Amino acid sequence: MDSTWRDEANRYDRMLGGFGRQALAASGLGPGDRVLDVGPGASDQPIELARRVGSTGRVVAVELDADLADVGRRRSTAAGFPDVEYVVGDIAEVGLDRASFDVVVSRFALMLTDPTTTLPRLAAALAPGGRIAATVWQIAERNAWFTLPLEIVADVVAGFGSAPPDAPPFRLADDAVVEGHLGDAGFVDVRIDSLVQPVWLGADVGDVIDFFERGAGELRSAFDDASWSRVREAAQRRLAPFDGPDGIRVPAAAWLITARRA
Ligand SMILES: C[S@@+](CC[C@H](N)C(=O)[O-])C[C@H]1O[C@@H](n2cnc3c(N)ncnc32)[C@H](O)[C@@H]1O
Repeated sequence: MDSTWRDEANRYDRMLGGFGRQALAASGLGPGDRVLDVGPGASDQPIELARRVGSTGRVVAVELDADLADVGRRRSTAAGFPDVEYVVGDIAEVGLDRASFDVVVSRFALMLTDPTTTLPRLAAALAPGGRIAATVWQIAERNAWFTLPLEIVADVVAGFGSAPPDAPPFRLADDAVVEGHLGDAGFVDVRIDSLVQPVWLGADVGDVIDFFERGAGELRSAFDDASWSRVREAAQRRLAPFDGPDGIRVPAAAWLITARRA
């Protein structure tokens, strides 16, 4: 995971929090529940979970990236929830006691795992009747937060790649496939709802350009300063139409997956 997920945790919370809160609402999570968060990164979602389950509940956060887990753990502690349990490891491998959770949630992480391994493990970790509520991205073409940076570079470098359909964020973009995986894993009452809402990227055009630039990584070093200035000008043009009263919001679409263990 690139370092922007660590350094920009607050930004990602604002970008993704609306989707995440809809999943938490759909999960029916409440006081006393034992909840597992898959791939929380450095996000504030475990804090929100701890708030909702209260002192009689339990929050376990399984995160692959030790640095992100470390930031997340510090954020949870600083927010007054030192009991959130961070487990560093792969959700496909970490020890999960059978029937030990009431709810599994995940905000934009399931598509980064192999669903044929992960979903049966999550079903087994849920108590009978336990629920899963997770968000994954719909196809790239419905998610301008992903396609815009590519289009911006393509304005300067003709033929610069478009989004490959199997790019990691979109590996569960086919809702029929997701439904099949959930059924195979033993989930019932499967629902896959479309969430279409603009995602906030930053306070203004300059803020978003700087954010994109920090995320550009090695791509930046492939450009000399003059060409990169043209990329930044293209970004100004492409982002301007999305400038609104509270900053830059661009189109985004996710699936809200809910299901129950039989
Ligand atoms: C796109 S980020 C989302 C982070 C966070 N849920 C949020 O909404 O801000 C995906 C997260 O899933 C984690 N992840 C990916 N594969 C994983 C796996 N197999 N087991 C546990 N975590 C995983 C990544 O390290 C990353 O933190």
